[in-house]
Amino acid sequence: MPKLQVVNREGEEKTVEGEAGLTVMEIIRDSGFDELLALCGGCCSCATCHVFVDPAFKDKLPAVSEDEDDLLDSSDHRNADSRLSCQINFNDDLDGLRVTIAPED
Ligand code: FES
Repeated sequence: MPKLQVVNREGEEKTVEGEAGLTVMEIIRDSGFDELLALCGGCCSCATCHVFVDPAFKDKLPAVSEDEDDLLDSSDHRNADSRLSCQINFNDDLDGLRVTIAPED
């Protein structure tokens, strides 16, 4: 199973197994990181699943949609590596992807 590396807000890193077909948000949430609220359940309407993604994987990620872009703009912590983790479907190509949970807005 492909692996995902997750860094929490304390800077602690944990490697978790990610089932292909789930979103990165679902994998993080199901791995016990309760600081990733994901309040809208993945409908791209809350921005509480904000993560910073390892730039090395940028080319392998789906493009940012207009809705995702607008929501990311509502965050005070947006940077060039920002993504909404519910908008990234995990797959074998993303094995080893490292994501850092963004600070709470
Ligand atoms: S879970 Fe709400 S935008 Fe991702």
